[in-house]
Amino acid sequence: MSRALQVAKVADREKTAARLLKSSADKFYDPDIDIDWDAPIPADKHFHPEHRISLYGTEIWDRLTPEQRLELGKHEIASIASTGIFFEVLLMQMLLKQVYKHDPTTDHVHYLLAEIADECRHSTMFGKACRRFSVPAYGPRRWVKNLAKILPLLGRGPSAYAAILVAEEVLDRMQRENMADPELQPLIRMVNRIHVLEEARHVTFARQEVAKGMARAGWLAKHYHRALTAFVSYFVALSLINPKVYKAVGLDPRVAWKAAKANPHFQETMRFWGERIMKFLTEADLVGGPGMLLWRRSMLLAT
Ligand SMILES: [Fe+2]
Ligand SMILES: [Fe+2]
Repeated sequence: MSRALQVAKVADREKTAARLLKSSADKFYDPDIDIDWDAPIPADKHFHPEHRISLYGTEIWDRLTPEQRLELGKHEIASIASTGIFFEVLLMQMLLKQVYKHDPTTDHVHYLLAEIADECRHSTMFGKACRRFSVPAYGPRRWVKNLAKILPLLGRGPSAYAAILVAEEVLDRMQRENMADPELQPLIRMVNRIHVLEEARHVTFARQEVAKGMARAGWLAKHYHRALTAFVSYFVALSLINPKVYKAVGLDPRVAWKAAKANPHFQETMRFWGERIMKFLTEADLVGGPGMLLWRRSMLLAT
């Protein structure tokens, strides 16, 4: 890269960082202050829209009572929120590595630190919500958690940001729908609203990093980033629902999870949640090659 091009690239990055920092200062929530954690929990409000629950429309669903359906929704949203914490922690590790490498006097590094601070508050907020509703923070399956320890070591450049974008944008699609749903618990709607507002700048930042990284990647690097993005995204999708949630309504986790994966309604929900990020990743040339098998299994891709 020529010296002039490098200077232009740094200037460009600084401009975006300055704009996002301004947004961080303007749109900022403190869940300790902005959420009333002691507010009563209405008994008749849902925790997750029924049509987005993994077993909705199956024979098992037909046998569940209205109370069991509500309870299952509560546990599924706890699984999704705690998986969100897990991916936020992975992202924070990767962002901290970038802070370590770059000049701390730049807006770019200040923005990275602001994003880490956002994610710290989000993870606290999701953890507090699980505690308020007395549901376990399921997180991903144990073996996925162990396998993911290698991600901060492998993840660099566009695929690191792409993998995190998949988690952020899938959650974002779900939360935009939920925050507008009057049938849902007010606390859930508020948590979703705060997360959607603050995540918008993370998405802008990560999308820019992915597009820039892919534009200068060579043939081999492109194939590496495609494969790693497909691999991590498969685990993002797989981890949203921890099969242990089904125990809360007396179901066998293996039988229920098998039914959920084969459920056309749930497949459509996953496709809906993945629709926006898959369009972006396809345009960024990150979807293709041997990773297609994993993309199809993730249910995020329209078939
Ligand atoms: Fe977040
Ligand atoms: Fe984020």
